[in-house]
Amino acid sequence: MIKTKLCEMLGMQYPIIQAPMGPYDTKELAVAVTNAGGFGMASHPVPDPKFGIMAILQDDETKMQAFESVKVKLLNSLRHIASNAKGNFGVNFRVAPVQSDVPMLLDEVITEREKNPALRKKLKVVVCSAGDPTQPYLKKIQEAGMLRFHTVPSVYHAKKAEKSGVDGIVCTGFEAGGHVAHEPLHTFVIVPEVIKSVKVPVAAGGGVCDGRGLAAMLAFGAQAIYMGTRFIATKECEFNDKVKDAIINASVTFPREDPTIVTQGVYGPLRHFKNKFSFELAELTTKLKNKEITMLDVYKFESGATYRAKGPEGNIVDGAIWAGQVALRLHEKLTCKQVVDGIMAEATETMKSLGKMVA
Ligand SMILES: Cc1cc2nc3c(=O)[nH]c(=O)nc-3n(C[C@H](O)[C@H](O)[C@H](O)COP(=O)(O)O)c2cc1C
Repeated sequence: MIKTKLCEMLGMQYPIIQAPMGPYDTKELAVAVTNAGGFGMASHPVPDPKFGIMAILQDDETKMQAFESVKVKLLNSLRHIASNAKGNFGVNFRVAPVQSDVPMLLDEVITEREKNPALRKKLKVVVCSAGDPTQPYLKKIQEAGMLRFHTVPSVYHAKKAEKSGVDGIVCTGFEAGGHVAHEPLHTFVIVPEVIKSVKVPVAAGGGVCDGRGLAAMLAFGAQAIYMGTRFIATKECEFNDKVKDAIINASVTFPREDPTIVTQGVYGPLRHFKNKFSFELAELTTKLKNKEITMLDVYKFESGATYRAKGPEGNIVDGAIWAGQVALRLHEKLTCKQVVDGIMAEATETMKSLGKMVA
């Protein structure tokens, strides 16, 4: 049995956290992961496709309509997880300045949590990312009785988050899927350094997919693993099957190379699969660097494609497939229970056999 202090803090059976994957809905995934003994996370939505993303909206009325669409999606997702998960879960907010909806959204979540006993009992943590942990409104999370974690890519950011009063830290390296740091610091380097630099518990990820990965992260001093890409390729994940297949076929499609590419994204650099869309976004990234276009052009391009690959259309050619390099290590679509049980069995076995090596 592997238990950490973070398991107790979050009330999870195993030290396995499903990373949030906004803007996509992960409510079914979160339920399945929590019910398998891990810790599910609701993701931060973006407005309905007809609006585009918050960052491109100009007038106040449209912004409010867009906000309403985000609110409805998020509250539905939270209510669904609270009614169907047998244990606890969390929610993510990207707190970048372009994400102008977050302060209002947080108020809505706190109010809903007060009204809904299942939500009050099970929604334990808000994991913030992609922004400044010292923003005063974030204090409301703890005042409402939830834990506040912050996602960091460096020792500097970890110390800043700890100083701001967070209860825990998430540290992910550059191989992770989705938005990554400006500095390409990989999990094997940054995770142990971040853990050494803070006192609060750290959940670690970016490239983790199995029990040996869990054993390695525990050896570094992490208290849980934080996995996105592994959980996309599960039966319960609501992402399009074509996306899951692209992930589990990555080692065949890309036998000699990294299947992913990092380009400019809405909240900074973004890691996604190589396809027509990603190469076009890479071209825009170069044009942006050369000041031939503005960030607004990037937002507009990205906000259409973000949905295409994961939505009903499942367009894996000109849609964004956000995924990490660890796709190369995934060869099977599994249930969340198979993933969680497999990781726990392999980590236990690995730690036992490592113990036998000690003279
Ligand atoms: C499809 C996708 C969407 C993501 N969206 C978010 C997000 O909205 N907020 C966030 O903090 N991280 C986001 N991430 C990053 C993950 O939370 C996590 O850090 C990452 O998946 C871990 O690395 P791995 O993919 O190698 O497991 C996303 C990742 C993916 C693959």
